[in-house]
Amino acid sequence: MTTRQTLADELTRARNRTLRLVDFDDAELRRQYDPLMSPLVWDLAHIGQQEELWLLRGGDPHRAGLLTPEINDLYDAFVHSRAARVNLPLLPPTDARNYCATVRGKALDRLDALADDHPDAFSYALVISHENQHDETMLQALNLRTGAPLLDRGAGLPAGRAGVAGTSVLVPGGEFVLGVDAVDEPFSLDNERPAHRVDVPAFRIGRVPVTNAEWRQFVDDGGYGQRRWWSEAGWAHRHQAGLTAPLFWNPDGTRTRFGHVEDVPGDEPVQHITFYEAEAYAAWAGARLPTEIEWEKACAWDPDLGARRRFPWGATEPNAALANLGGDALRPAPVGAYPASASAYGAEQMLGDVWEWTSSPLRPWPGFTPMVYRQYSEPFFDGTASGEYRVLRGGSWAVAAGILRPSFRNWDHPIRRQIFSGLRLAWDV
Ligand SMILES: [Fe+2]
Repeated sequence: MTTRQTLADELTRARNRTLRLVDFDDAELRRQYDPLMSPLVWDLAHIGQQEELWLLRGGDPHRAGLLTPEINDLYDAFVHSRAARVNLPLLPPTDARNYCATVRGKALDRLDALADDHPDAFSYALVISHENQHDETMLQALNLRTGAPLLDRGAGLPAGRAGVAGTSVLVPGGEFVLGVDAVDEPFSLDNERPAHRVDVPAFRIGRVPVTNAEWRQFVDDGGYGQRRWWSEAGWAHRHQAGLTAPLFWNPDGTRTRFGHVEDVPGDEPVQHITFYEAEAYAAWAGARLPTEIEWEKACAWDPDLGARRRFPWGATEPNAALANLGGDALRPAPVGAYPASASAYGAEQMLGDVWEWTSSPLRPWPGFTPMVYRQYSEPFFDGTASGEYRVLRGGSWAVAAGILRPSFRNWDHPIRRQIFSGLRLAWDV
């Protein structure tokens, strides 16, 4: 299959997913479910606006486009905070849908005329990644929505297996290749590059992510009330925000997920925790969070080959037997559900299920060069007045398979937990 055909298919797959997530009436699409999130209709038109910018206007915001400059500016994420977007004179849902469809038609026409190795193929990949990332954001918004459920409970998942929770694997010390180059991963983003050798001392890492049952022990043991497990900033936030359990856990032992109230499944990876909670849990468990470099080595390095694997399990593209990705499940899979997903070191479920907090602040790899979309990574390297961003790895159940790689780096404020975030433990040896 040509790159062109792959890009066209991925564009269509992402759009079908987006349209399913906005298949609601106009009043619903204009609602703001939480000050942390945009109304869904903002995300919808913003997806089209970024696609127009990168594929039809060559990345130049001053080049004339389909929207007036005033309307175009409404969808600039750097100008309007999420909390403020609900009060903007946004395009009505029908107009937003039509706009996105018009942009898409033109973008596909252009793609037809493009050579496979044309540098603009990267811009198409960027747009595919962007739309899928917003689909995940819209799922976060829908999860925060109150009222009768709009979505069902999600697609079926493989069963877990006993005996894997709480176990770990050894990653012996030594060099590995961190990051990727365009020659191997042409659609990798700027912060994943360049590939370079790094020496990593030996460590152990969880075979699977920490489960709800394990987290329940931390809660029952009074972990949220014991200062000694928390960093200074974490303890301050824990008090200020009144944290006593993961977001969406109810006092009666149930949880609310996309409006459905259900028992908390003990063997499912815990999700909806802040970085600070992850850090405190790890201390309570006698462990620590992995660095993102350790995480990537445990995920991608094959010590027998002395080379990276494309995916933790090898070269096969992700599929339903290897990882919970794509967003249809609406939840993580139980631990042990994907024995075939094991990395060279034996770590399972490294891709999909939950984003895993690491201890690393977001920094460029040595030799970092910004890509065509300069604002993707660079403005975030130095953190904000309120602190540093922390890196999350591995993607969640809501991430599209086509945009995820072991080198993919996500980041967020350490206080965020509406994201599909969990953790995996690490230990010095
Ligand atoms: Fe965006």
